[in-house]
Amino acid sequence: MINVREASAEDTETLWAACLEAANWNGDIRFTKDQLMNDPELSHYVQGWLRNGDFGVVAEARSGEGIGAAWCRTFPADDAGYGFVADDIPELSIGVVPGHRGRGAGTALMTALIDLGRSRGERAISLSVEDGNRARDLYERLGFVRVGRNGGSDTLLLEL
Ligand SMILES: CC(C)(COP(=O)(O)OP(=O)(O)OC[C@H]1O[C@@H](n2cnc3c(N)ncnc32)[C@H](O)[C@@H]1OP(=O)(O)O)[C@@H](O)C(=O)NCCC(=O)NCCS
Repeated sequence: MINVREASAEDTETLWAACLEAANWNGDIRFTKDQLMNDPELSHYVQGWLRNGDFGVVAEARSGEGIGAAWCRTFPADDAGYGFVADDIPELSIGVVPGHRGRGAGTALMTALIDLGRSRGERAISLSVEDGNRARDLYERLGFVRVGRNGGSDTLLLEL
């Protein structure tokens, strides 16, 4: 059984773990945790969590262990994320640890995060998905549409 709840400042480690899964999404170890934490283009997704404007959700196994997270953060144009659309549109990140994928955690995290964004009055959520990542099916099923291109990735947007 998986429980999804709102993320707090105490969930930073679960977010780092999820961010590492997102960075290494295709199964290759492109980044170790140390490399991730020292790469400014990746670490800015989690560094300083939970700052003003951040919101997120975590998934827990029955044991209470964090097994995944989805969260949103806004970025200024001069420190944009890969899925940047505007400085007032939060960008989503998501990751579930490998042993717990394919059992609904990702869908539950996404729907909970979208509901949270809507209840906060956000107007939209953006994200970046690299070519070939199956996560794209999940995003499109939830209504995200392509609005841009950045390197080998598409930028998707969900209007709330
Ligand atoms: C994408 C991800 C968060 C989905 O979480 P999940 O718990 O596996 O999701 P669900 O069980 O709810 O499955 C929903 C959809 O996710 C995708 N998915 C499922 N297993 C997956 C896997 N092992 N790898 C990638 N995508 C997967 C599929 O589109 C699936 O839909 P389907 O069952 O109709 O094929 C998770 O697979 C993951 O952490 N992947 C690596 C990190 C990543 O790619 N992050 C997103 C970067 S843009």
